[in-house]
Amino acid sequence: MREQLFSTRLTELFGIRHPILMGGLFQLADARFVAAAVNAGCMGFITAATFPDPERFREELRRCSELTGGRPFGVNLAISRQDEGGRRLLDHLRVLLEEGVRFVETSGGSPSEILPALKEGGVRVMHKVPAVRYAVSTARNPMIDAVCVVGAECGGHPGVYMIGSMVQAADAPARIDKPVAIGGGIGTGRQLTATLAMGADAVLMGTRFLVAEEIWAHRNIKERIVAGDGTDSTVVMQIFRRHHRVLDNEAAQEVRKLETAGITDFAAYEPHVTGRRVREAYETGDLSKGMIDYGQGACFADAIEPLEAIVDRIIDDAAAARRRLAALSWA
Ligand SMILES: Cc1cc2nc3c(=O)[nH]c(=O)nc-3n(C[C@H](O)[C@H](O)[C@H](O)COP(=O)(O)O)c2cc1C
Repeated sequence: MREQLFSTRLTELFGIRHPILMGGLFQLADARFVAAAVNAGCMGFITAATFPDPERFREELRRCSELTGGRPFGVNLAISRQDEGGRRLLDHLRVLLEEGVRFVETSGGSPSEILPALKEGGVRVMHKVPAVRYAVSTARNPMIDAVCVVGAECGGHPGVYMIGSMVQAADAPARIDKPVAIGGGIGTGRQLTATLAMGADAVLMGTRFLVAEEIWAHRNIKERIVAGDGTDSTVVMQIFRRHHRVLDNEAAQEVRKLETAGITDFAAYEPHVTGRRVREAYETGDLSKGMIDYGQGACFADAIEPLEAIVDRIIDDAAAARRRLAALSWA
């Protein structure tokens, strides 16, 4: 593991060596992956939605704790307004509090209803949003410890404004008086150095780490990402204002056809966008089906490696960027 290169408000808050966070990854960010992130000096978030059964979720938390030797790790909670999602959220909340989880990344809707319980349980909360304007209003809540802003390049949900990470990285820290992480298209140390230089406290990545050996998904997906360069990601579901950046596979093309035809009946989209298809793709390696979250930062995912090796390369690259800046200065 590399020496600590940077100390920021987020390395302090999470108690980590490197200002690198791995965001929630539906179906993929399990105990093995998150423990590897923590053991490599970063922070990761077990994605609760992957484990709808609360006792199965509890098992995963305990496994993670074992794998990190008791070092703290995080949980990602998707805030849902639907009844079933809301009920599941409360189950996840209860279990994570019972198990003593210390960090939560929330995403989706506003976490305000569950913040009092999280705070009472001593949990530190980072809320992730796709635009600075949401981050500014989120940060006003005294129960929020940190915010993360993801740009249009990100795998998953870039929001409706589709503002790039370069803009948001410069904008968010200047307008928010709390620790800020920036994500979306980030996969290198030079981006890490640049992001910190712009005032942020950490970077958050997803796509770059899909090629980690600790990701359980079929090797085909990792080989596909290594071969891909991010021009093969596309944004679908804009017709419902639920922008989703995914691999441009056959299913995404079908969805785009429906959107182009102006079809607004969700039932027509359902077979392509159901989460079940993604699980099947990860299990079988057949990447033609399902909305496979995948961002432009795939161009940086150049080899299937242990997670820690990826982090080491990012840190070496960040150090090189810092040296380059020093060599450029004339004072
Ligand atoms: C495969 C995959 C699954 C994801 N699942 C979730 C999720 O369940 N919850 C969430 O908040 N974000 C999810 N995200 C978004 C990531 O946490 C992170 O915000 C995003 O990947 C950052 O952008 P990047 O992919 O360009 O690094 C997912 C991203 C990917 C690539």
